[in-house]
Amino acid sequence: MNNLFIAFEGIDGCGKSTQLKLLSDNLVKQGHKVYLTCEPTSSPIGSLIRDIFNHRAEADHRTIAALFVADRLHHLLNSTDGIIKKMKEGYTVITDRYYFSSYAYHGAHMPLAWVIEANSISAGLLSPDINIYIDVLPEISMARLIQGRDSIELYETTENLRKARDKYFEAFELLKSQENIFITDGNRPSELVAIDIWNEVSNLKFNK
Ligand code: TYD
Repeated sequence: MNNLFIAFEGIDGCGKSTQLKLLSDNLVKQGHKVYLTCEPTSSPIGSLIRDIFNHRAEADHRTIAALFVADRLHHLLNSTDGIIKKMKEGYTVITDRYYFSSYAYHGAHMPLAWVIEANSISAGLLSPDINIYIDVLPEISMARLIQGRDSIELYETTENLRKARDKYFEAFELLKSQENIFITDGNRPSELVAIDIWNEVSNLKFNK
């Protein structure tokens, strides 16, 4: 099988959804079956997380981190549309966020080592063939978020985005020997970012 598991990562407003769609279109054109998914998921666990983010429910940051651990395991393991099932069916699965999002966003509130350990079952089950990180300056992504939305979620302040970006890089440094991490400069026009991502992913495919 030459289907891939691809995770998109980046701070809020980095342009992940645009790039994810462009990559998916390219893969489909090449004849691949592609399954797009995201975290938090649409499961009851994911819905609870979204309620917390949209200020409809309240929870401590440590509780949120644990909910993401559960949401991710369910994302992988559920028997309806779980990622592992989709991979077995031959889909290339592209997820908008995976465990590096947890390292970045929760590592700011609690020890990064705990967050990594808490996600180790997911990492053991399936680690991405490539983690694509779209790097954007927090000021730029915050400006994009304010433009495109009428409400702002829990972690969406420039200060939090800066912390998350720092934690992403800390986690990349820590895990670079065991993870395939591709960092692209997302401050550029999206067409250029898309070309970089396509070059990287197609190389990966042909080498597999
Ligand atoms: P996001 O991709 O921005 O979704 P949307 O565009 O629908 O709002 O993700 C929502 C938030 O979830 C984002 O602020 C990052 C946060 N998050 C975590 O805090 N931990 C995690 O493990 C994941 C996957 C996301």
